[in-house]
Amino acid sequence: MYEALTPVSEMLSRNLDTLCHQPLLVCGLLEDDLPGLLAGHGPAPRVFTTDFRYFQWLNTRSNVKPEFGAVPATEPATGLLLLMPKAKAEAEYLLTACLPLLAPGAPVFIAGDNKGGVKAAPKLLAPYCGHVNKLDSARRASLYQAELSRPASPLKSSDWVIRYPLAEEQLTICTLPGVFSADHLDAGTRLLLNNTDKLHGRVLDFGCGAGVIGASLLKRHPGIELEQIDINALALEASRITLAENGLQASVYASDGLNEVQGRFDCIISNPPFHAGLKTFYSTTETLLSEAKGYLKPGGSLLLVANAFLPYPELIEQSFGHCDTLAANGRFKIYRAQA
Ligand SMILES: C[S@@+](CC[C@H](N)C(=O)[O-])C[C@H]1O[C@@H](n2cnc3c(N)ncnc32)[C@H](O)[C@@H]1O
Repeated sequence: MYEALTPVSEMLSRNLDTLCHQPLLVCGLLEDDLPGLLAGHGPAPRVFTTDFRYFQWLNTRSNVKPEFGAVPATEPATGLLLLMPKAKAEAEYLLTACLPLLAPGAPVFIAGDNKGGVKAAPKLLAPYCGHVNKLDSARRASLYQAELSRPASPLKSSDWVIRYPLAEEQLTICTLPGVFSADHLDAGTRLLLNNTDKLHGRVLDFGCGAGVIGASLLKRHPGIELEQIDINALALEASRITLAENGLQASVYASDGLNEVQGRFDCIISNPPFHAGLKTFYSTTETLLSEAKGYLKPGGSLLLVANAFLPYPELIEQSFGHCDTLAANGRFKIYRAQA
């Protein structure tokens, strides 16, 4: 899955002498065995990832033992390589989380696809570093280098929380950079929330994001026993903050698909991941549709919102033998199937 080197790593492979002067803390958009490439040329890097799938993959395949979470461990680091994530706010967050671990004078690198916002590197580094060099550009990717000029203040996660109200449910939703629908309720999620049955028992909020579905369900059906899962550490942290701010309780944990989930549920509910052009996102939802029945109690239901054009009803029928459409508007449909 992460076997082939990305064009960004191919470009970095021309700069290994510079990068491997010191063990680097590597974070951001990790999509291949760049840690192995660095370790093969110099000191093994330290890897901090917010992506549970990548964390599990690297953990089993290499000597580099990655860290997974919303912030890195507090041990000092000798240099930083940030692989530009999709959202600029997430890049700012990661720099704020990682730079306090470096001493002044330590090297800071930012690399990424030219179309993925890497050109913002000089601006991103301006608060922390003096001159920012463009070190290389090839394969439609660029590498920037700078030196940390003064100690960076530690991250205060509360500074990064974005809040929006959910008036109907009287909830405050708390999100973090890079989390889905960071400053408003997604229109698909609203349609799903408006079409939930009376719920009871054990409920799984699959791909919880900032925890909006779970929090709304707990508010309406206080008796349910809720579990919230996501692959993204910042989403999990946002869900925990949303629960705490609203005085709600649930079990929140990392899982790639249903892999870490135990036992059977009365309901699995989701606005599942999709992303045109990124095949893995479709495959996560396709796997959910084929496996969900095995995680439901007899009579338990799978409740889903999806873009109307996606071929999910056929996949749900293949697995459950039927698929009900509970609601539809121009863009979204709500599907339900019972085990
Ligand atoms: C469309 S968003 C929905 C978020 C939230 N439930 C809402 O309605 O606002 C899908 C979520 O699925 C998560 N996700 C993506 N791949 C996943 C996987 N393999 N396993 C679990 N969650 C995943 C994403 O991080 C994202 O938070």
